[in-house]
Amino acid sequence: MALLRKINQVLLFLLVLTLCGILYKKVHKTAVLKHEADDESESPEDMEEEIPVVICAAAGRMGATMAAINSIHSNTDANIVFYVVGLRNTLSRIRKWIEHSKLKEINFKIVEFNPVVLKGKIRPDSPRPELLQPLNFVRFYLPLLIHQHEKVIYLDDDVIVQGDIQELYDTTLALGHAAAFSDDCDLPSAQDNNRLVGLQNTYMGYLDYRKKTIKDLGISPSTCSFNPGVIVANMTEWKHQRITKQLEKWMQKNVEENLYSSSLGGGVATSPMLIVFHGKYSTINPLWHIRHLGDQGGQKAMDPLELQSLVADNCLKWF
Ligand SMILES: *[C@@H]1O[C@H](CO)[C@@H](O)[C@H](O)[C@H]1NC(C)=O
Repeated sequence: MALLRKINQVLLFLLVLTLCGILYKKVHKTAVLKHEADDESESPEDMEEEIPVVICAAAGRMGATMAAINSIHSNTDANIVFYVVGLRNTLSRIRKWIEHSKLKEINFKIVEFNPVVLKGKIRPDSPRPELLQPLNFVRFYLPLLIHQHEKVIYLDDDVIVQGDIQELYDTTLALGHAAAFSDDCDLPSAQDNNRLVGLQNTYMGYLDYRKKTIKDLGISPSTCSFNPGVIVANMTEWKHQRITKQLEKWMQKNVEENLYSSSLGGGVATSPMLIVFHGKYSTINPLWHIRHLGDQGGQKAMDPLELQSLVADNCLKWF
C-alpha cells in the first residue's frame, strides 16, 4: 500500500513537472511570437514607400531604356521598383541587359505586354509607322500591368531623369483625377527653333478638326495639349473612370473615322489621351519634362552609360 502511494506521488510529481514544462514553453513561445509581431509592426514605418516606375524596353531601343533607368536610379535614394515592359520575344534580353550591368542592383520586375489587346484598334496607315510599335500603348493599360500600387509613374524610354524621382512621385493628383501630365505650353523647349513646336502644343496638332466627331467634342483646337511621355497616375481612379476602356473606344473610332491630325508629330498614343483626359488631369511641374531633345534613333548600339553622358551633355540646361 505504502509502495503504491509512493508511486502515485512520484507520478503526480512528474505530471506537475510536465504541466509546468508545457506552461513555460507556451508562455515563452507567445513572448517570442509577440516579439516578432512587434518587429513586423515596426517595419512598415521604417520602410519607405515603394515607388513603382513603368518603362518600356523595345527591341532595338534597349540602350535608351537602360540609360533612362540608370538616370533614375543614380539620382535618388527612394525605394524604387522598376516595371520593365516588353514583348514576349524580348523578355530574356531585357533580363540580360539588366543583370549584366551595374543595374543588377536595382529592384525590378519584367512584365510582358501582349499586343493582342490592340487588335483592330490601330490604323495601319499612320504617317509615322514607327510610332505604331505596340509598346507605345502600354501606358493605356497600366492597371492591367501593375496590381499592387495605387500611385504609379510611367516614363517613355527616351527620357533622362536628372532630378530625384521621389519629387515627381510626390506630385499631387487632385481628387477625381486619374493622372498628371505636363502641359506642352509650359514646356521649356531645348530647340526653340523647332518648326514643329508651334503646331505641336495644341489639340489641333493631334486631332483632325475637319471631322464632325472631333468638332462635336466641343474642345477648342487651340487648347494646350499635354505630353503623355511622363505620367503620374492613380490606379484606383483610373479603374473607377474606366480610362482604359475609354481610350480603346477612341482608338476604335479612329480606325473607323481617321480622326487624328495628319501632321501628328507626337505619336498615335497622344491623341486618344488628349480626348479622354481633357479638363481632367493634374499638372506636373514643367521642369520635369523638357521636350525636343531629340529622338535620334541610332542609339541602340551604344553603351547605356556612354549614352547617358552623351544625352546628359545635351541636357545640361534642364535644372
Ligand atoms: C486615388 O484615388 C482614390 C479615389 O478617388 C482616392 O481615394 C485616393 O486618395 C487617391 N490616391 C492618391 C495617391 O491620389
